[in-house]
Amino acid sequence: MKNKFIKNICCIGAGYVGGPTMSVIALNCPDFRVDVVDINKERIEAWNSDNLSKLPVFEPGLAEIICKCRGINLFFSNNIEECISKADIIFISVNTPTKTKGVGAGYASDLKWIESSARQIAKFSKNHTVIVEKSTLPVKTAETIKIILNSSDDNHNKCIDTDVNQTFSIVSNPEFLAEGTAINDLQNPDRVLIGGDDDESINLISDIYINWVDRDKIIKTNLWSSELSKLVANAFLAQRISSINSISALCESTGANILEVSKAIGSDTRIGNKFLNPGPGFGGSCFKKDILNLVYLCRYYGLNEVAEYWEQIVNINTWQQKRISHLVIKNLFGTLANKRLAIFGFSFKANTNDTRESPSINISKNLLQEGAKLTFYDPKVNESQILDDLDDLIDNNILVYETALKAAQGADAILILTEWNEFINLGWDHIYKVMRKPAWIFDARICLNKNKLEDIGFKVWSLGT
Ligand code: NAD
Ligand code: UGA
Repeated sequence: MKNKFIKNICCIGAGYVGGPTMSVIALNCPDFRVDVVDINKERIEAWNSDNLSKLPVFEPGLAEIICKCRGINLFFSNNIEECISKADIIFISVNTPTKTKGVGAGYASDLKWIESSARQIAKFSKNHTVIVEKSTLPVKTAETIKIILNSSDDNHNKCIDTDVNQTFSIVSNPEFLAEGTAINDLQNPDRVLIGGDDDESINLISDIYINWVDRDKIIKTNLWSSELSKLVANAFLAQRISSINSISALCESTGANILEVSKAIGSDTRIGNKFLNPGPGFGGSCFKKDILNLVYLCRYYGLNEVAEYWEQIVNINTWQQKRISHLVIKNLFGTLANKRLAIFGFSFKANTNDTRESPSINISKNLLQEGAKLTFYDPKVNESQILDDLDDLIDNNILVYETALKAAQGADAILILTEWNEFINLGWDHIYKVMRKPAWIFDARICLNKNKLEDIGFKVWSLGT
């Protein structure tokens, strides 16, 4: 009987990329069996939870796909050995954070999870396997993976013992999804980038995507162009945010309005209107780490001017967060001692539960250091995550609430740090009544109606106005 599944895909890493990406592949390729594996037992249990609100990643549209595919051609498990051994194609989707110690600390990507994945593959894979770099990696990482695969002791012993003819090809296929819109980004990508040095493997990966993506959108390049393009795409996107944020400060000093400026410049089709929303600085697990990685690469190749140019984007981002914290302190009479401030929004952007590098973390830390007591409300981020992110500074000065109204009770000020849609229509009259006066709103996302709030009685600071 013909095997129901014509290809076995394994994805190492069941995180924000591995989970949604493999779900969309499983949805569009019913003839493939997709196994997503992870070393983290709790994460896999959460992916297998019957209660879909317990999935480890909140992403609009994801739960519906999980419902359709899980247990049919999509499987989440900790069976790393078994899934690698039967895979024809292995996606590596593990974390690649910035190194915290050793050579390149603070800039270079920590590739220890990539290395451990490569070693697992060398140990357990059989026959010919196409390895796909889905994680964001420094240029030439494919070379490192190749060396590990070809020189591993496990691999060598296996070949001698069992006569297994183990061969590998490596392809780079970086992911461009943004959190909060991941499912739409995966279903309707602007492009799919596949880099490699053997056409057969590139075409094999391309064949997966043509099940739902137009052929014209599939860009094929060499390995290094593909790896570098991912870093550069993130650097360009972040550059726009730092540019508009730097101008938000100039608007506040001159009486120009950043929303008007953003609209005026974005209407030039050469500039375009996307990614020009001013805010408290970009967060998320990737922009900062990918730019720092690019900076590291430039320095490594002796291109110091280029490195400094890109590093400035991260510097402006940090400055914007400090600037907002100082502004809050200044408006609250120069001191936060015994003041209660309510933080509305803790995720790094709306429609995700991810808090990695969220501007809320740095701004909250700055305010706590000034002696403020903080309350928090976020529609999707739970209490333990917030406490975890503020670790050493908690000291009884933090309370997390399940409603915005409760978080605002007795507060001197509210800071809007994530642009959750529900903030627009909160019962602001009621919230005003329960706060201490003068009651301030610092709208760092410019998502509220300033005039209406001022009519209620609030004092309002809106970024860039
Ligand atoms: P993540 O931390 O959410 O997930 C990574 C997972 O890999 C974790 O669950 C971890 O336990 C697992 N893992 C690590 N080593 C492993 C091993 N040896 N075997 C099995 N599992 C292992 O990370 P993420 O946000 O999904 O990002 C993954 C990669 O994708 C990163 O390189 C990131 O830069 C890139 N990326 C992320 C996004 C995003 O929106 N988060 C978008 C595009 C690209
Ligand atoms: C970003 C890129 O958009 C993705 O293409 C890329 O795949 C991903 O990084 C990655 O490599 O991890 P993501 O970080 O999920 O996606 O979300 P973005 O929508 O890019 O937002 C990043 C940060 O910038 C958020 O804090 C957001 O609030 C902020 N932002 C975004 C602004 O302040 N202004 C804008 O106009 C846009």
